Amino acid sequence: MNHKEPGKVTEAQIAVHWQEEQYFHPSEDFVAQANMTDKGIYDRFGLNNFPDCFHEYAELLSWYRRWDTTFDASDAPCWKWFVGGKINASYNCIDRHLDSNRNKAAIVFVPELEHEPHEVITYQELYVRVNETAALLRDFAGLKTGDRVTIHMPMSTDLPVVMLACARLGVIHSVVFGGFSGKACGERIADSGSSVLITTDGYYRNGKMLDHKVKADEAVKVVSEAGQIVEKVLVWRRYPDTYQSEAPMKPGRDFFMDEHLPEFRGVRVEPVELDADAPLFLMYTSGTTGRPKGCQHSIGGYLTYVAGTSKYVQDIHPEDVYWCMADIGWITGHSYIVYGPLALAATSVIYEGVPTFPDAGRPWRIAERLGVNIFHTAPTTVRMLRKFGPEEPKKYNFEFKHMTTVGEPIEPEVWRWYYDVIGKGKAAIVDTWWQTETGGFLCSTMPAIHSMKPGSAGPAMPGIHPVIYDEDGNTVAEGSGIAGNICIQNPWPGGFQTIWGDRNRYIKTYYEKYCKDSQSKDWRDWPYFPGDAATQSSDGYYRILGRVDDVINVAGHRLGTKELESACMTISDLAEAAVVPVTDDLKGKVPDVYVSLQPGVRESKDLEKAVVLAIETEIGKIARPKNVWIVPDMPKTRSGKIMRRVLASISNATDVGDITTLANPEVVEHIRDMVQS
Ligand code: WT7
Repeated sequence: MNHKEPGKVTEAQIAVHWQEEQYFHPSEDFVAQANMTDKGIYDRFGLNNFPDCFHEYAELLSWYRRWDTTFDASDAPCWKWFVGGKINASYNCIDRHLDSNRNKAAIVFVPELEHEPHEVITYQELYVRVNETAALLRDFAGLKTGDRVTIHMPMSTDLPVVMLACARLGVIHSVVFGGFSGKACGERIADSGSSVLITTDGYYRNGKMLDHKVKADEAVKVVSEAGQIVEKVLVWRRYPDTYQSEAPMKPGRDFFMDEHLPEFRGVRVEPVELDADAPLFLMYTSGTTGRPKGCQHSIGGYLTYVAGTSKYVQDIHPEDVYWCMADIGWITGHSYIVYGPLALAATSVIYEGVPTFPDAGRPWRIAERLGVNIFHTAPTTVRMLRKFGPEEPKKYNFEFKHMTTVGEPIEPEVWRWYYDVIGKGKAAIVDTWWQTETGGFLCSTMPAIHSMKPGSAGPAMPGIHPVIYDEDGNTVAEGSGIAGNICIQNPWPGGFQTIWGDRNRYIKTYYEKYCKDSQSKDWRDWPYFPGDAATQSSDGYYRILGRVDDVINVAGHRLGTKELESACMTISDLAEAAVVPVTDDLKGKVPDVYVSLQPGVRESKDLEKAVVLAIETEIGKIARPKNVWIVPDMPKTRSGKIMRRVLASISNATDVGDITTLANPEVVEHIRDMVQS
């Protein structure tokens, strides 16, 4: 053991709590058809070939003009890629496919109501809609290259259409997740300086029509309180001609898209030949402080990176039917529903609703009917679907060649269920670690090259060179299994360019901690710090332990909340587990454990004891929880993430803050009564 200070448990000891798992190998069938089987790619993308190695990805795209400078560090750490290059993302995702794929489905939209027909948008149809919408944005809404526009829309075909219309003009889109409140949307409109808001009247969620336009009015109000003006609100309608919202349309400000689009019938808008390093979009994300950060992504670098990773990690071929269940309002949806798959001329499935509507067989019926062969979702969804047992998916005849997990660490137990039950023991799984800021994957196995190891994201992507530092900036030995802060040594094309309007915060948040020389123009002095802790095992695979702010320090012992949760999940009666830190007079912090049960399982004292025992067995007595709370459901965001912050507030009897954006705010009250009574 590597004690740095007597009495302190080192990261190494923590890391070993989550046992090393056996390997699973991709099937011969998968390997035989895979886009990337050449291990040499890792040499070609070695640090000695930085930055030119990324030409291999950039060449997947069509450029109006090739770049002069691959990488420019003159404004470090605001990196520029493919300087001098001219490109258009809309052209790359649509126009260039028309010759050979005009009549192929680009998007298949699946409405939540099962009796409503699917909507199939061919590349030709996408071309027409994007052109007419671009014409409207330009000639009716007055938008021009460099303007920002905020888009607050649910899952629909109109959303990618309007994004690609913006991209055609060089208008910078800022898509705000539809589940966010009007207030949250308004704050983002104000921060980005958008004068146009694009929204929808309503959409289905759990079988109910939600009023969405009402949020636009709230957003506009927030913007005016900030001293800015939203000049136009463009409203798509779920059903053209009928209005689903109670909110009145304000004359002169609010306009129905379906009423104005016919004025642009047949209009074609030439894609603007844009600088490769101009911004494509902003995506707001949360930081440790309250104010959201507008991550600014470039056109050429971003598209290069998502095209490359979609092709090789997602293994997308033009003939594949690809379904990513994320929401387009998050980065996963931008990169791996819209830009990546469409750049490769794939068919991308868009589903309007929740996976369990009207029942937990829905995803498998969709997959069966559309012939989906690549499936992409988050651990939280896998856990939720797992609650319904293995019999549900078995009723349906679907077959995935490839599956993705993203967004949080996946417990080995859950991984194996995904592999056995959903992948039927055949599909290759990639556990992709990345963030809003990084544009695309940072760590993942290359599905036909590496074996899979449950609980580990895998090695770094080609061209991504991580290093793990301790708190003092010392390098943690490679492959040692010792935990530390994972950083990326080098820039890559998918990385965001800055925080919109706040360069200082960009530097402070992501670079200050490990910057070697703040005046330097050499990228080697600027490791990127994503805010996650990780270990690297001797096989080179990285295991992401979670945000460094998700760590619980129990009497000086650092415990990853995820590790505790994983320990709980070894009990098959549990559906989900969430661990939060509770302040403790003696130990500083101790974990509080919240668990929900599989259907049909009854709560009991014995189960509580089993949870404590599992933690003691898997991790040790130092990790003993203060309480085990058996709850009917976890408080969750609309995108399905467990709100540990809310649970922590309940455990610590502090204010839970704004919970109106949760999917199930009522459960908070219930849990509070239980814990605080
Ligand atoms: C944070 C980023 C990645 C797009 C969706 C979320 C965590 C992400 C994994 C993974 C373990 C993961 C990290 C990261 N995370 N993927 N495969 N294994 N943790 O994007 O909202 O920007 O969140 O999600 O903590 O920093 P995001």
